[in-house]
Amino acid sequence: MPFNIIRDDITRVKCDAIVNAANSSLLGGGGVDGAIHRAAGSELLAECRTLGGCDTGDAKATKGYKLPCRYVIHTVGPIWQGGGCGERELLTSCYRRSLELALSLGCESVAFPLISAGVYGYPKEEAVSVAVETIREFLNGQDMDVTLVLFDRSAAAISRSLYDSITEYIDDAYADSHDDSAARMMSANSMAMGAALSEAKPQKPGRMMGLFRKEKGSKKREKNEAVPMMPQPEVLEEVCEEEVSLENYLASRDESFSEALLRMIDERGLTDAETYRKANIDRKLFSKIRSDRGYRPKKQTVLAFAIALELTLPETLSLLSKAGYTLSDSLKFDLIIKYFISRGSYDIFEINRALFAFDQTLIGC
Ligand code: APR
Repeated sequence: MPFNIIRDDITRVKCDAIVNAANSSLLGGGGVDGAIHRAAGSELLAECRTLGGCDTGDAKATKGYKLPCRYVIHTVGPIWQGGGCGERELLTSCYRRSLELALSLGCESVAFPLISAGVYGYPKEEAVSVAVETIREFLNGQDMDVTLVLFDRSAAAISRSLYDSITEYIDDAYADSHDDSAARMMSANSMAMGAALSEAKPQKPGRMMGLFRKEKGSKKREKNEAVPMMPQPEVLEEVCEEEVSLENYLASRDESFSEALLRMIDERGLTDAETYRKANIDRKLFSKIRSDRGYRPKKQTVLAFAIALELTLPETLSLLSKAGYTLSDSLKFDLIIKYFISRGSYDIFEINRALFAFDQTLIGC
């Protein structure tokens, strides 16, 4: 997934470069700066001393030493002063310069903390949106895996109103689905029980009242064979007369997920690259899907394409069904996806931030 959001300690993240939210002296400090220096060891500070400091909004690189990364890219974020002193531009520059430096060093994967959102006081929600927008813009033109490492859940920073609105949607849908399924179960049981009772012969006292489904030509159950207590709804399946060979049956099956996806991309006049970038899917995975008609993707991957293609709910369900999936009103992950699609909101990064805030798997590869 070209852009991922995780909750972790950045000093544990294995990638080509991690970014440090440093101060202009580059001589260490608290927060993530302190954590990185502690984990890297004293050689990091020794190299930092040779750099001569760093301007706010700029970035400089050192080796990673004892960290599980090749480089540490030190950037200095702006101190929040209310938003009127160019803080947004400086913070944007931190991400951009760090990404450019990582690219120049040949890095294929980079991890960022939420720069300036700690000691420097940048409001977390704005800090996340600057990070997401700048990283996204960079990834429109580059192939790199970028991870935003949030240290605390609150940093997911979706707005309170969005969080409450999604929670309400989940509660409503969950309640409906359980009311409906309970009602369905009650009516099915009472109908089937009624039907079965009218047919069942009176049983000798002491034997469990057994209810079972009668099928054409079904073999008589053995005398003491346990019978299921719950009635099965009568299923009348007409066996089709001519037998279809398995080969013909398989050959006649519906279009595959891969075929449906490529058709939908063409129908919308999009290019493959536009689609997989909007879906936050890496190029290699897309080529695998495109070249293998029978490829079965993960559900999160199918949904990422549904969002990128801005499919309606029925179109999303149709695409999901090609890969053998559906959406359920009993799964929080599914309900959050339905929440955004039903509102025509197709920003995959906003959806992933919401999924992250609700502790759900993100969509993408
Ligand atoms: N891994 C990932 N993120 C972390 C970690 C960690 N180990 N420790 C802290 N963070 C998060 C914080 O929760 C915050 O969201 O990093 C974000 C940035 O917080 P700070 O580290 O305080 O950095 P910043 O706000 O940019 O302030 C920089 O603080 O530590 C000093 O020397 C540093 O003077 C500089 C100032």
